[in-house]
Amino acid sequence: MEIVRVALSNFLNYASAHVEFESGVNMVVGENASGKTNIVDGVLFASIGRSSRHTKDKELINWNSKNGAQITLKIQKKFSSHIIDIVIDSAGTKHVSIDDLPIKRIGELMGVLNVVFFSPSELALISGAPSDRRRFLNISLSQQSRPYFYALQNYNKLLVQRNNILKKYNASDNIKDLLQLTDPGLSHEASIIIKERAKFIKKLALVSKEKHNILTGNKEDLDISYETCDLSFDNLEKSFGEALSNSFARDIHTEYTNVGPHRDDLKISANSTDLRRFGSQGQQRSAVLSMKLAEIELFKKRTQETPILILDDVLSELDEFRRRALLSSISGIQTLITCTEPSKEAEDPYALFKVHNCSISKYDSFYTV
Ligand SMILES: Nc1ncnc2c1ncn2[C@@H]1O[C@H](COP(=O)(O)OP(=O)(O)O)[C@@H](O)[C@H]1O
Ligand SMILES: [Mg+2]
Repeated sequence: MEIVRVALSNFLNYASAHVEFESGVNMVVGENASGKTNIVDGVLFASIGRSSRHTKDKELINWNSKNGAQITLKIQKKFSSHIIDIVIDSAGTKHVSIDDLPIKRIGELMGVLNVVFFSPSELALISGAPSDRRRFLNISLSQQSRPYFYALQNYNKLLVQRNNILKKYNASDNIKDLLQLTDPGLSHEASIIIKERAKFIKKLALVSKEKHNILTGNKEDLDISYETCDLSFDNLEKSFGEALSNSFARDIHTEYTNVGPHRDDLKISANSTDLRRFGSQGQQRSAVLSMKLAEIELFKKRTQETPILILDDVLSELDEFRRRALLSSISGIQTLITCTEPSKEAEDPYALFKVHNCSISKYDSFYTV
């Protein structure tokens, strides 16, 4: 798939701007704080309904705007084209329409525009907390599967309810009855989430290993595995229900749910060294890169469409070998690259855009160095 056009109105530092992207590599160049990340953040927002760095939608509204913000994208897929339009009203509530039809649930946005996002902060995928790795799984899987997204939403709601019950009624005689309000639903949603994660991680591990071999010249063997609670995959829902029961005494004591997908993690190691704790920055960066390249392939296989790749400020952080390896593996993928200077390693001509004075303009369609 491809993004044909992005229009921004009172979105972050853009009062009014629009840009037409091209197939292949689109290089967005500008000074620091000119608004490069804001554009790609807008694209991510149109893809998953969430910004990469602003937790509240209201923060996306231009400070000078009294009327909220709007972002509109035109997407071209193999057999269809779509308009995604998101208005954030002045109260900070977002209203999403796809092809002029307002959607009822944000899940309907998932999969319309698929994005693989890579920025320096994605290093947290390896070095950060387990929640950073779960975030990666959730964003990737939600784009690939709406049932996953809905299961996750339901699970999170039920988990909040369950934790509230554990907090408020942990001394009550009928706590077990109260937990019957949440636990069957929780087990059902957990089984969907865990099954999808297990399938995805298995494939991700395989493809990431291949990518990593190429990136490291076969010097490092990358292993990725799923760390979840002890479960029987034959009947996940039942098995998860049992895990909840087994954790009952502990849950009462801690007033918190101790088992479940909200505690999952990904183990990522190279040559048997756990990169999460012991990886050098360079190793961690290469591992993220391998995983992102693998993510693109898995998207392609599952959806029959190529996702958009966003490389926000990462080229300058990679050494020349990895930079070339990355650029040579993105042919056929529409890629938005932000950087302060045009890259010298690109093999093919690319479209060049300049961000300046809160606007973005096309400088050259076939820029070569
Ligand atoms: N809600 C907002 N309204 C207007 N400007 C904003 C808003 N949020 C952030 N900015 C501005 O956007 C700029 C950051 O843009 P960014 O895309 O991160 O720059 P770059 O990636 O080019 O370094 C900052 O100057 C910041 O002040
Ligand atoms: Mg930036």
